[in-house]
Formats: sequence, C-alpha cells, structure tokens
Amino acid sequence: MPKRYLVTAALPYSNNRLHVGHIAGAYLPADCYVRYLRACGHEVRFICGSDDNGVAIEISALRENSTPQDIAGHFHQRQKSDFAGLLIDFDIYGGTHHPDYLELHERLSQEFFTRIHERGYFTKRRTKQLYDPQAGRFLPDRFVRGTCHFCGFDRATGDQCEHCGQMIEPLLLKNPISVITDQPAEVRDTTHWYLQLNSFQRPLKEWLESKQGQWRPSVLNFALGQIKQGLPERSMTRDISWGVPVPLDDPDARGKVLYVWFDAPIGYMSFTAAWCAEHEGDWKAYEQWWSDPQTTIIHFIGEDNTVFHALTWPAMLMADGRHQLPTAVVANNYLNQKVAGVTRKISKSTTPPDAPVWIEEYLKKGLDPDALRYYLTAQAPETARADFDPDEFVARNNGELVAALGNFVNRTLTFAAKYFDGKVPDAAARTNVDRAHLAQSEEALTKVGACLDGHRFRAGLEELMAYARLCNEYFSTRAPWASRKDNLADCGAAIATCIHAIHYLGIMAWPFMPGSARKLLSQLGLPEEPIRWEPPPPPQTGAALGEPAILFTKLESGALE
Ligand code: MF3
Ligand code: ZN
Repeated sequence: MPKRYLVTAALPYSNNRLHVGHIAGAYLPADCYVRYLRACGHEVRFICGSDDNGVAIEISALRENSTPQDIAGHFHQRQKSDFAGLLIDFDIYGGTHHPDYLELHERLSQEFFTRIHERGYFTKRRTKQLYDPQAGRFLPDRFVRGTCHFCGFDRATGDQCEHCGQMIEPLLLKNPISVITDQPAEVRDTTHWYLQLNSFQRPLKEWLESKQGQWRPSVLNFALGQIKQGLPERSMTRDISWGVPVPLDDPDARGKVLYVWFDAPIGYMSFTAAWCAEHEGDWKAYEQWWSDPQTTIIHFIGEDNTVFHALTWPAMLMADGRHQLPTAVVANNYLNQKVAGVTRKISKSTTPPDAPVWIEEYLKKGLDPDALRYYLTAQAPETARADFDPDEFVARNNGELVAALGNFVNRTLTFAAKYFDGKVPDAAARTNVDRAHLAQSEEALTKVGACLDGHRFRAGLEELMAYARLCNEYFSTRAPWASRKDNLADCGAAIATCIHAIHYLGIMAWPFMPGSARKLLSQLGLPEEPIRWEPPPPPQTGAALGEPAILFTKLESGALE
C-alpha cells in the first residue's frame, strides 16, 4: 500500500563547507532511504535546507569581517551544490534566513512560540548570563567556551559538550572564556523564556518506550537516560540580533531572538510549507504532512543532534499540540578519519594531514560521486563510530565496485555485443541453474529492501554486493565462452539470464548509487523510467542493448590527496 513519508535531513549550519562526515551522518542515508521509498511507490517529500540563524553563523561573520547574511547566503549556495554533486536530491533546499524562505519561516516559528506561550509552557525568568564587557555583548551558546561541568572536557562550548554530548548550562562551565575577545566572561542579569521540558518527561518517556525495538538503541538509550536524570528547563530566547525576533509584546523581549534550536527544526515545517506554496499554490497544505497521522515522519541526523530531535523538538511539538510527533529519529555516529593509519576526529582544519575530505574538492577532482556514496555507506557509522580511510576508499572502489559489480555488467554486455549482435539472446534453453539464479535475484531484492526498510543501509549494501559476487560466480559456472562454441542456445540462455540479473542490480543499486544505476540500465537499452522496487520482467528476446561502457573507474592510490 502506498503511504506518505516526510523525510528530513538535519539542516546544516551555513557557515562552512561540507565534508565526508556530514554526508555519512545524515544526508546520504536519508537520500538512500528516499530513493528506496519512491521506488516502492510511496509518496515522499524530502526536506532540507540551511540552518542560517544562531550563534555559529554570527561568530563566523565576526571572524570573517562579514555579515551573517552574507556568510549564510554564501555557504547555503556552496552546500547546495555539494549535495547536488553527490546526487543527494532534496525536494526543497530551504534556508531559515534565506530571502526566499524567511517570511514563511519567521511566520511559522513565531506562531509556534506564541502558541506555546499561550498554552503556558514557558516560564519567564530574570536570570544571569555570561557577558563580554570588552565586546559589550552577552555570550550565549558557542560565544563562550570552557570546561564541561559533566565530563571535564576542556573545550566545551556554551551550548553542548562535543565530548559527552550533554547540553551545557553556560553558568556552570568552568573557566568561561569569550570566543570574541578570548577574555574571561563575567555574569550579568537578563530575561529569558524557558521551555518547561520537565512538564513533558512522562509523555516523552512513554512515547520513547513505545519505540523500543524500532529505533536504534543508541538514540533511545541516550534520550531515556536524559529523562532519568531529569529534564531541566531550557531557555528558548537569546540576547543576539541575528535570528527570528521574539514575537512577544513585552519590553523584556525587545531585541531578543528565538534560540536557534527552537526555530531550526521548525525549518523542516516551513520548508515543507514553501514546497507546498511553490508546487500546490497553498503553503497551508504543509499541514497534511505534519498533522495527518497517516504521514510517516522520519528525521535523519548525526549523533550530536540526538538530544534536540528525540527530546526538545518532540517536547515543542507536544507543547504546541497541533502536529504529530516524528515516527522515527535515525541518528548515525560520527565518522572519524584515518590519517597515516591513526584514527582521528574529523576537524575543520583546512591543512593536511588533519583536513577532512571536503565534498567540493572531491567533486572538483572529477571523481565519481557514486564511488564516495558507496564507500560512505559501506563504512556507515550506524551503530558505532567508523573511520574514513582514504586508502580503503581506493581499495574498495577497485576491489568491489570495479572488480565485482562493474566486472559482471561489463563482461556480460561485451559478450552480448560481440556474439549476439548487441541483442538479448533467446532464453528458451534455460536450465535449472538459470532458474535458480533468478530465484536468488528475487531473494536479493527482498533482502536489500528489508534492510532499507529497517534503516540498515550498510547491511543493505552488503547484500547488494553479495548478490553481485553471486552473479560473477554464476557467469563462471555457466561458462558462456565455452558453450558459445558448441551450444549456442545454452550460451544464449545464460547471457539472457545475466542481462536479467543486471536489471536486478540496477534496481538494487539505485538507492545507493543512482548515477551508476542509471548508466547500467541505459546499457541494457531500457527506457528512462522511474525505478520500481519489484522483480523486473525478463528481457525481451531480440531487444537491442545499449553501448557497453565502463561503469566504475579504477583509482590510483592517493586519489583523494
Ligand atoms: N545545524 C545543526 C547542526 O549542524 C542541525 C540542525 S537540525 C535542525 O548540528 F533541523 F533541527 F535544524
Ligand atoms: Zn562533557
């Protein structure tokens, strides 16, 4: 039965370029999933865009002597082309401060805030806040750094500790330092609006417990662990000027903006609305995606976003009360990188050896986007952190994509071109071995599909490659180069079966490597039509095949340097 799915991928901050860690974390698995759902005939909206508000962008602007508008606009564009280059195909790529989306985004964010306010889930508090006297401004979130009050990590920022993943209470940071002036921060009075997360502990706990056995344990354990510790109130307003203005008619709210983690997830909604406006002429149609329980909503994120997607955002949705909760939150762990055989955290450094593989640079080298998609899925940090190893990238490209998948397709199609005039041979002399191979093909399709249904992308890709190896074994067993000389009918049946198997491979490869899947299907001479996740019909005897061409390119060692 076709269903509706709304799939989101975490909105990247528009203050930097994208590297392989970002892609492996959220965007690639989301794209694989969306392609699979579409092939199954479901109606899907795939939503992403840039997270333009907040302190991170302002800090970048200060450092670059620029404005938040310019920084956000600039990186929005670059990230958008990175995604396109990797065939990550969103239905909409919005931006929370992008001129095309700003109006709707502010409107929905302010509506959300006002509604939660009216329903009494904010507490207005006069509080103390870190302040930089030299810069003359408050220091929310990443404007301050210091030692984590949970784990002692010495480079925690005022929003979150990168080391233990906990949300930081800035006033509890040890030795707080302003990142603007590098001077010690002092404490001043201010007023903020706090979301009463504690009011939602019970419903959140029940909701999360109902997901046991469906969600990844890492997400559930983390979120339930936080609830056990008790959820503190969280301030949802900030003393900065870049962001969505606080929509309260209250002198204390003047000059303040919404906390970026308040408005950012609403971006998923406002971009859905923008899509509806653009394609259906009615932005309000977003409600059919967000309020209709028939729609499955899935958020793909990196591990550091777990607390916001599994706790804060659902609490906001409960406090607002108009929309449904996400059906699933799928989080990947961090991707580390291997530098000279040693595992290191991906840093934003731009100089070797610490520099990550930037997507822009990968694409500029003219390398195949599918080769990277392949390796990042094969190494996907789904249940634990994993390494990006440039040597392994090359080795697996050559040893798996080229030697197994590409080889099978190429040996079949060059054979057919040479001995069957580039046409599908007659399969009438089909043997039990051929029938068994087709049965295995169908099984492989089901297995890969089951993995993708369960968000197990890495396992799905392994199934696909196991099937490609099976195809090579089948080819060797049937030895068409021998039967060609004494039993052409038998040879034809084998090659026709291989051609059928390539069609299976094309379907199964589609979610993971869409560019190669398309190439492969066009080499079969098949018309460009939507991929359908079902056993393909047998090839028609006598149908013309396309030109055989190399599917994957062998790489030299050091290809990424
Ligand atoms: N910008 C955040 C990050 O890069 C992710 C935001 S996801 C959101 O960590 F949707 F909620 F916006
Ligand atoms: Zn910590």
